[in-house]
Amino acid sequence: MLRGADKPFHDYVDVARHTVDRIIFSDQAVYEMELERIFARAWNFMCHESQIPKAGDFFLSFIGEESVIATRDKKGELQVLLNSCRHRGNAVCRAEAGNARSFLCTYHGWTYGLDGQLIGVPGYKDFYHEQLDKSQWGLVKAGKVASYKGFVFATMDPEAPDLEEFLGPVGRLSIDLLAERGDLMIVEGVQKNQITCNWKLAVDNLFDFYHASISHASAYMSGFRAIRNPNSPQTPDYVRSIFRVVMGEYGHAIGGPKVTSEALDKLENEPDTNPRKRDLWRRRKPGAREILGEVGMEAGGHPNIFPNMWLTGNQVCLRLPKGPEITEIWWFTLVDKSVSDEQQEEVVHNANHNFGPAGFLEQDDGENWDQSTRATRGSIARRYPLNYEMGAGFAAVKRAEGITYVDELINEHAQFWTYRAWADWMDAENWPALKTARTIPLTEGVL
Ligand code: FES
Ligand code: FE
Repeated sequence: MLRGADKPFHDYVDVARHTVDRIIFSDQAVYEMELERIFARAWNFMCHESQIPKAGDFFLSFIGEESVIATRDKKGELQVLLNSCRHRGNAVCRAEAGNARSFLCTYHGWTYGLDGQLIGVPGYKDFYHEQLDKSQWGLVKAGKVASYKGFVFATMDPEAPDLEEFLGPVGRLSIDLLAERGDLMIVEGVQKNQITCNWKLAVDNLFDFYHASISHASAYMSGFRAIRNPNSPQTPDYVRSIFRVVMGEYGHAIGGPKVTSEALDKLENEPDTNPRKRDLWRRRKPGAREILGEVGMEAGGHPNIFPNMWLTGNQVCLRLPKGPEITEIWWFTLVDKSVSDEQQEEVVHNANHNFGPAGFLEQDDGENWDQSTRATRGSIARRYPLNYEMGAGFAAVKRAEGITYVDELINEHAQFWTYRAWADWMDAENWPALKTARTIPLTEGVL
């Protein structure tokens, strides 16, 4: 029996006990509410501006399960259009990316301009007697479209706050940590694969530095990377140390190892092949401290822009929902236009070997998420919530530059922050309600 929407969603996230009810990971009613209250309302990452530099360039993306076309119209304005003809609903664009002058529906031939306007209707004169009001039957447009430092987002909800407000200091910092590394462009081709898991478990994992030494033991044994067991003597100090978790508006968070000045000193002496050396950019780039601020300078973890955009290394990953128990993973790889071809290839090589369908890591992760998702379906297993109490009651809240964060040993505060925000989004009927009722990051005390 579906029971997911029967009670307030906050009841599924127990703040006192730090637990999350398993029902939210496979229940159809919960899932459908997520599509409505989270994906159809949030700012969703579409693409990078480097993917659609010229008028007519387009890239096909998703908002929830719905196909949308991110494009640039004749005036060079960014447009995000629902990829569904207004006549019988057929897709008007089937290619994943390209350049077009217009979008012709292959069913009966209605044609739409790059700005979504209906510009051509076969039989307009004879069959419609020139009575069809074309101005009313354009493609459905996003409520708002905007880009921040080249990263293009869209929301279907015109009541949503502007992008910069939605991102807030933590969302902006999440993008700054990647965007400020160079003059970035996205490498052609997005890696896509599906994993049979709930999208939230995939998001949850991006903050999880607890699993690596166990889940990825075989990957590390292969020598592909230094062993990450925090207690291993081979583990570099910057892994064993303190973790910084940053908690922002509407569920954005950053979680992972803190990048201290001593850690950067050590990295200076690491071989150039160590991919963590990329952290040195924050020391080497003039003005980085002003852009990132004191909190950001030491935030070395993984950012997630709520709901599903993870920025890691030189990659952006989307965890796209395709049903309560199917997630499509998209990997975009970015390179600095100003470095040599060899250096760009090195970045792509590293990216491909970390995550994605051919990576060392996500194969292991996917198996776990699949099993975790299956076990949320069982009528017995469902009686028992999942545990998120690692570090609970031990993290002193700090606040600087308008940002709330904790510096603690490995913990689950970023994951739990995400679920608390999830409940806020799910219980709020509209944007004004979400703005009023959302959980505000603490400014003092203990988490
Ligand atoms: Fe598009 Fe009929 S469905 S023209
Ligand atoms: Fe992993």
